[in-house]
Amino acid sequence: MSSFAPRVFSGIKPSGDLHLGNYLGAIKRFVPLQETHACIYCVVDLHAITVWQDPQDLEKATHEVAAAYLAAGVDPEKHIIFNQSQVHQHAELAWIFNCVARMGWMQRMTQFKDKAGKNSQNVSLGLFAYPSLMAADILLYKATHVPVGEDQKQHLELTRDIAQKFNNDFAASISRNHLDGDFFPLSEPVITGPATRVLSLRDGTRKMSKSEASDMATIYMLDDADSIARKIRKAKSDPEPLPSEVAGLKGRLEAANLVGIYAALADISQQEVLDQFGGKGFGTFKPALAELAVDRLAPIAMEMRRYLAEPDMIEKILKEGADRARVMAEDTMKQVRKIVGFIS
Ligand code: TYM
Repeated sequence: MSSFAPRVFSGIKPSGDLHLGNYLGAIKRFVPLQETHACIYCVVDLHAITVWQDPQDLEKATHEVAAAYLAAGVDPEKHIIFNQSQVHQHAELAWIFNCVARMGWMQRMTQFKDKAGKNSQNVSLGLFAYPSLMAADILLYKATHVPVGEDQKQHLELTRDIAQKFNNDFAASISRNHLDGDFFPLSEPVITGPATRVLSLRDGTRKMSKSEASDMATIYMLDDADSIARKIRKAKSDPEPLPSEVAGLKGRLEAANLVGIYAALADISQQEVLDQFGGKGFGTFKPALAELAVDRLAPIAMEMRRYLAEPDMIEKILKEGADRARVMAEDTMKQVRKIVGFIS
């Protein structure tokens, strides 16, 4: 939508330890967007509490996500890093979106179904309404682009549905308030690159996540060099050599996953990885991947630890970011309140 200034918004939940999927699917991709867009990167603590979080762990995890943004190269002065709960407008807009979104839309969300499992009567109401808070995050800033991993695609489609329904339902009021055209943009998901769905290292049918049973399945951003190398050496693979064309990876989930991880870490395409390693077995490929992963991840982990040793500095950065985000958010909310018909 060309009438909206290009703006990026994305968020990460401070729940559990950050892992390679979060890094390659999201954080690493946040960095180059700073060259072309105004970027807002949020630590979404309101989303985290949709499932129980021990308060002290939540604080620690909030620091960790902020430290990861900073260590990966997000610039908190040119752009914005903040935590969601400091800008109350997120919760306010989410409530309005709860009244725009339909039950049926929410019931279709596969992530809710996965997370609730058989327990759907006993999960929090917040978990069900989760996607409308996510839409509020994005639309509060009228973000045009949202870099995420593949698992967030359906939530972003819902965000567009909410934006469109709001624009339609309130079209007359929007024009009465002299706000011409569409009020909210139809934000574009940015799901690009070779690692938008990093898989478990132990089971190629599952995505890498914070909640894997085996520690060997997940590389954490704060893992030391030895653990990274050991997990890659022990990663599930197959007995065949790597193919020389990408098409040859079809049906080889674990092999494709490791090639994707290599490509994303080295900033090259999967084909370029296969140009180098096609015909070679995992006995050659895994040590090369382990070396690359350590080379790329260890300096970031070191930088994260440096930030984590100074929690006051992290909190200052989050507060300053929240102060700037709040000005933009309040700008949008002033208009939204008028559009909806609230007297203020
Ligand atoms: P969260 O915290 O689960 O994950 C953060 C980001 O990491 C990506 N990701 C992955 N990418 C590739 N492979 C994986 N195995 C993998 N696991 C996680 C996610 O796709 C995500 O980009 N709902 C969001 C947070 C959120 C948000 C937003 C995102 C709240 N509001 C607004 C964008 C815009 C979430 O749960 O992410």
